[in-house]
Amino acid sequence: MNKFKDKVVVVTGAGSGMGRSYAMEFARCGAHLALMDYDATGLAQTVELVKAATNAEVLQAVFSVADRAAMFAFADSVMQRFGTVDVVINNAGVAGAGLPGWDTSIESYERVMGINFYGVLYGTKAFLPELMRKNSGHIVNVSSIFGLVGAPSHTDYSASKFAVRGFSEALMTELCQTNVGVHLVHPGGIATNIATNTQEGADFSKFNERYLTTSPDDIARVVRQALENGVVKVVYGNNSYKTWLGSNFVPLKWLNRIVWSDVKKTLNLEPYKRAGIR
Ligand SMILES: NC(=O)c1ccc[n+]([C@@H]2O[C@H](COP(=O)([O-])OP(=O)(O)OC[C@H]3O[C@@H](n4cnc5c(N)ncnc54)[C@H](O)[C@@H]3O)[C@@H](O)[C@H]2O)c1
Repeated sequence: MNKFKDKVVVVTGAGSGMGRSYAMEFARCGAHLALMDYDATGLAQTVELVKAATNAEVLQAVFSVADRAAMFAFADSVMQRFGTVDVVINNAGVAGAGLPGWDTSIESYERVMGINFYGVLYGTKAFLPELMRKNSGHIVNVSSIFGLVGAPSHTDYSASKFAVRGFSEALMTELCQTNVGVHLVHPGGIATNIATNTQEGADFSKFNERYLTTSPDDIARVVRQALENGVVKVVYGNNSYKTWLGSNFVPLKWLNRIVWSDVKKTLNLEPYKRAGIR
């Protein structure tokens, strides 16, 4: 029996990349979808693709996950339309400023935390009561391999993804004796638009070329299987296994050097040179 047939699956950031792949993956399993994104055009394309390939019923909404009231209103509209919710994939996220910590503005930290962390928090808080009421379903929170190791020129992004990890690991401990699954996803380099949909001035082109190679459809399948098999932590995609190994087994002082020498090949090194760092 297909576990997701006629279930209701919420996906945030469904207008592109992995969010679109999650939508397709669960629709192919017979689920109904509640999709949102702040990019109306991308979201409409996803809905078209889903409808062309499946019979899924789709509710769509355009707003920012950083808008707390809008997220709770979305949860109300999902409940009104479908009567319940079964899977919530808090996937929407953005890249940071692409600068070292000393050059990253406080505003960039606020923006990135607002979307990548608070978006996940609001999505969890808005839908969790229904999952707990019926003691079933899944919350899936998307972190990153930069939520396993801190990466240079990614302090804003890493901060937000470690926050997602801390929140989700604490919540999964609280709920570990229930039938509500809390899952963390740490994607490695996935071939999506994240490194091109960036803040003005941020240049991730070399980063994109070097790391973002795994298909988003592959990780969507792996996440769906993780939900089926009760796996709580998914680490998948280019460079993910070696990052996970490093984060678990290499002393931080050495790990910092390994991460620096690998990631620096993709960075704009000018701000480092200005600070006297070679
Ligand atoms: N691509 C990777 O290599 C990679 C690696 C690790 C983690 N991730 C994470 O995976 C998730 C999905 O990213 P992706 O790679 O598919 O990127 P993507 O840019 O292709 O898709 C992200 C989607 O989120 C939407 N979005 C961004 N900010 C939003 C907001 N405030 N409100 C609503 N929607 C918003 C975008 O419009 C876009 O449709 C993100 O959380 C990202 O941080 C990506």
